[in-house]
Amino acid sequence: MMKKIQIAIDGPAGAGKSTIAKIVAEALRFTYIDTGAMYRAVTYKAMKENIQLHDAEAIEKMLQQTAITLQPSEQGQLVFVDGQDVSQAIRSNEVTANVSEVAAHANIREILVAMQQKLAADGGVVMDGRDIATHVLKDAELKIYMSATVEERAHRRFLDNERRGIPSTIESLQKEIALRDKLDSEREASPLIQAEDALFLDTTNLSIDEAAQEILKLAQQKMQ
Ligand code: CDP
Ligand code: CDP
Repeated sequence: MMKKIQIAIDGPAGAGKSTIAKIVAEALRFTYIDTGAMYRAVTYKAMKENIQLHDAEAIEKMLQQTAITLQPSEQGQLVFVDGQDVSQAIRSNEVTANVSEVAAHANIREILVAMQQKLAADGGVVMDGRDIATHVLKDAELKIYMSATVEERAHRRFLDNERRGIPSTIESLQKEIALRDKLDSEREASPLIQAEDALFLDTTNLSIDEAAQEILKLAQQKMQ
């Protein structure tokens, strides 16, 4: 029987993590878990409730009374906050600009990490984020650190936004991504860093399919 392994994918914004993780999960009939969506959901609700985003205690209090649920669907993973579908709303420029501040709070990470570990406990998961290999799923059988040049990542996000009808420019996206890279890698609580036992995958010149095939090949070896 094939083992139901855990696959951890980390890396900066626009590296291709969620697109590729989704394809890998589908091919293996695993569950895809987008942890970034959870940090976005917390940020979305905190902003809606006018909570000061530097106030970690206030956000924690709010989170204790919030139901965040992830649900797989034909269009990918749906995210619900207190029963409301926020899958689109959490991708707004406003949430994107603020999510790294919220994600830097150690108390908020602790709560979300516990949820993520519970979701992955039975294996058969592909989870993407920033601290999956280093912290959330330290024992994952396959760990990938995915990246691409900041120019390529900004270009990809520009095309994403165009498709979604979100206004943006390549210049502003490059700045936003570079700032988020910096905040995510320099924070004290579980910063974005390549785990020692993670494999580096540069997707700058890879198609989505080539990157997915590469990971699937590695996964098949680990599942024997
Ligand atoms: O999709 P994109 O790459 O833009 O970002 P995301 O995966 O949705 O994550 C949004 C933000 O959440 C990141 O910039 C991090 O600040 C935070 N995050 C985190 O701190 N830890 C994770 N495991 C996942 C996301
Ligand atoms: O999750 P992450 O922020 O790492 O990236 P993503 O949202 O999966 O990918 C950002 C965009 O780049 C998507 O529109 C992907 O289709 C595209 N992409 C690409 O064109 N070539 C790749 N090798 C990987 C992603």
